[in-house]
Amino acid sequence: MTADPTFWNRIAEKYARAPVANPEAFERKIAVMKTRMQPTNTVLDVGCGTGSLALRLAPFAAQLHGLDLSPEMMRIAGGKAADQGVANVTFHTGAFDDSFTTFADGSLDGLCACSILHLVDDRDAALARMYRLLKPGGFLVTSTACLAESWVPYTPILAAMYWLGKAPRVWVFTRQTLIDEIRSAGFVDIETPDVGTTPETGFIVARRGR
Ligand SMILES: C[S@@+](CC[C@H](N)C(=O)[O-])C[C@H]1O[C@@H](n2cnc3c(N)ncnc32)[C@H](O)[C@@H]1O
Repeated sequence: MTADPTFWNRIAEKYARAPVANPEAFERKIAVMKTRMQPTNTVLDVGCGTGSLALRLAPFAAQLHGLDLSPEMMRIAGGKAADQGVANVTFHTGAFDDSFTTFADGSLDGLCACSILHLVDDRDAALARMYRLLKPGGFLVTSTACLAESWVPYTPILAAMYWLGKAPRVWVFTRQTLIDEIRSAGFVDIETPDVGTTPETGFIVARRGR
């Protein structure tokens, strides 16, 4: 199914105004990402939303790119970059699928994928694409809702919310499932640093093998 930006366009302004849910964990995630980055790096933030993470990481890379399905998210992200005077960030509107041809395979030093992998219909294909885009040794950092870790019956709840137009399509799986999928995609050195998130969040760092 083609990814649909309608839901995200509708909530973009509200999303931009909402405070970070867990600011301490967000700072710890950024600290981990910084340890993986070099000043010469080209890094892509997939599903970057309004660009908060990309803008925070930009000072630690040569080029930071953000990709998002939603033109509204990208409009807000571009405005924030201009307001903050961040020159080395570029935002691209589009889906992270075969239509995304901005980067050649093996061209990226790092990839961030925060709150996105539970939204893509074909996670294996997305992880395979991430692997291909990275240089050998390049890093992947993901922070993903792994809602099957919760006792809450998210699958029927989220299906109903999706049907009512109150939520995007969300896939429910465990943290271990995601780790296994990342490994199956070929990634190595898989780590799960404790950044103080809830058990329903999978914060996972990995590398493309050399
Ligand atoms: C929950 S938000 C996360 C935004 C940001 N990464 C963050 O952590 O705050 C998910 C974002 O992913 C984008 N998105 C959803 N599916 C996508 C896809 N297939 N390709 C690119 N972006 C997508 C949405 O437009 C939305 O901005």
